[in-house]
Amino acid sequence: MKQIAVFASGTGTNFVAIAKACAEGRIPARVAVMVCDKPGAAVIDRAREMGVETFVFDPHGYTSKAAYEQEIAALLDEKKVELVCLAGYMRIVGETLLRAYGGRIINIHPSLLPAFKGAHAIEQAVAYGVKVYGISIHWVDDQLDGGKIIAQRAFPYEGSDPEEVHRLGQKIEHELYVETINKLLCER
Ligand code: GAR
Repeated sequence: MKQIAVFASGTGTNFVAIAKACAEGRIPARVAVMVCDKPGAAVIDRAREMGVETFVFDPHGYTSKAAYEQEIAALLDEKKVELVCLAGYMRIVGETLLRAYGGRIINIHPSLLPAFKGAHAIEQAVAYGVKVYGISIHWVDDQLDGGKIIAQRAFPYEGSDPEEVHRLGQKIEHELYVETINKLLCER
């Protein structure tokens, strides 16, 4: 059985979609660990409820990004993780983790990249008057929301409510992330 890791910082709806798909055999893998940089984030309880091991850390408790990423890389090595799925992990992956896991880390982002990178993609797209929104899944490199695109799905929306865009987008995210992880693992 292949081992994957999910990194998250917030609510964890993508984490739940991935973990559920693994449990139901729609992804041929097991979530070996859920890594979270926000003690108190809702995703932690969700992982515990689903019986998924968690590694929760507070970046402020470390002297550098390299220090906590070294610990994470050692954990991923120990668990023999083949693919790291960032799912609302609101932190730029540093060189330590990229050196160890580059080419094996993917991210999901709520825009049609390369448009609207960063933490406020939906708000920026709404402010811009966008009429076609979308979701991107891409390989992670050293740039914010950079790296080659693996999958994208677009949806039309003519309104101006960021919450509604978020809701419509998340439904697509959950499907597209599961499909994409499944495809990548089957190709390996
Ligand atoms: C997702 O919508 C994801 O696209 C976004 O964070 C959300 C996490 O939701 N990621 C980014 O904005 C990355 N730049 P979740 O915690 O419910 O899975």
